[in-house]
Amino acid sequence: MSGARPAIGEREIHIWIARTDRGDAEIASLSRVLDGEERSRAARFHFDADRRRSIVARGALRLLLAQYLARDPSGLRFVTGPQGKPSLADAALEVNVSHSGDYVLIALASGTPLGVDVECENRTTDLKGIADRFFDPAEAAAVVAANDADAVALFFQTWTAKEALIKAVGGGLSLPLDSFRVRPGSEQFAAVQNHGHDERLDGWYVRALPPFAVHYHAAVAARGDAWETIIRPFQP
Ligand SMILES: CC(C)(COP(=O)(O)OP(=O)(O)OC[C@H]1O[C@@H](n2cnc3c(N)ncnc32)[C@H](O)[C@@H]1OP(=O)(O)O)[C@@H](O)C(=O)NCCC(=O)NCCS
Repeated sequence: MSGARPAIGEREIHIWIARTDRGDAEIASLSRVLDGEERSRAARFHFDADRRRSIVARGALRLLLAQYLARDPSGLRFVTGPQGKPSLADAALEVNVSHSGDYVLIALASGTPLGVDVECENRTTDLKGIADRFFDPAEAAAVVAANDADAVALFFQTWTAKEALIKAVGGGLSLPLDSFRVRPGSEQFAAVQNHGHDERLDGWYVRALPPFAVHYHAAVAARGDAWETIIRPFQP
């Protein structure tokens, strides 16, 4: 990364977008900042694309945090929550990472846990069927009623918003997808309707991110609604 040391304002969420289709030299350089466990995890992937995605995700996260916190990227330590959510061991900044296709998104903020989700559209799956089975009834009805082209976009906007929220809470599969409703606004954070009355879902807001690549959708979730999202490309 080049340029001045980045700083996060009090009500800012920074989203960094990293491409995963990088050359061997860049992958090797990102791999050098990983710890032994992260390297072995990357090496265990069967497909090269998955290995590269894993290296870019952790490598970019380490380099970014090192810049924000003025620390050695290799010296950062992560801990894993009960449902698998990784965070910085000393919680100096809140982070969350998502990867899909050729992209990794890294969200950072101070003062709120975060969730971010990115998905590349998959048009061969029965999206209306998945919405019907897993979404809240009103979300599912909107996807099912849409024409085929609109249904794809609506499905992925809803899916990424719901996943971003689940990742922010850190609840993993313990939060049923149909226990809450999202209405991702493109301009503002939209309140989450928590009709499952699960107190873990109180006080969260979710927002769809502006499109950054064709066929990709992304959303971020945070506590409270007065957040500004700042999106930047990551370059090592
Ligand atoms: C854990 C979960 C949130 C990951 O989502 P995903 O879309 O598969 O993957 P993403 O690329 O968005 O996120 C993966 C990253 O999130 C982070 N992460 C892992 N577990 C997490 C958790 N419980 N909460 C938040 N973040 C988590 C990690 O950084 C991980 O990256 P890594 O694998 O390189 O370490 C997801 O598998 C899950 O539990 N979903 C529950 C909702 C559900 O029911 N979905 C399926 C219904 S059919």
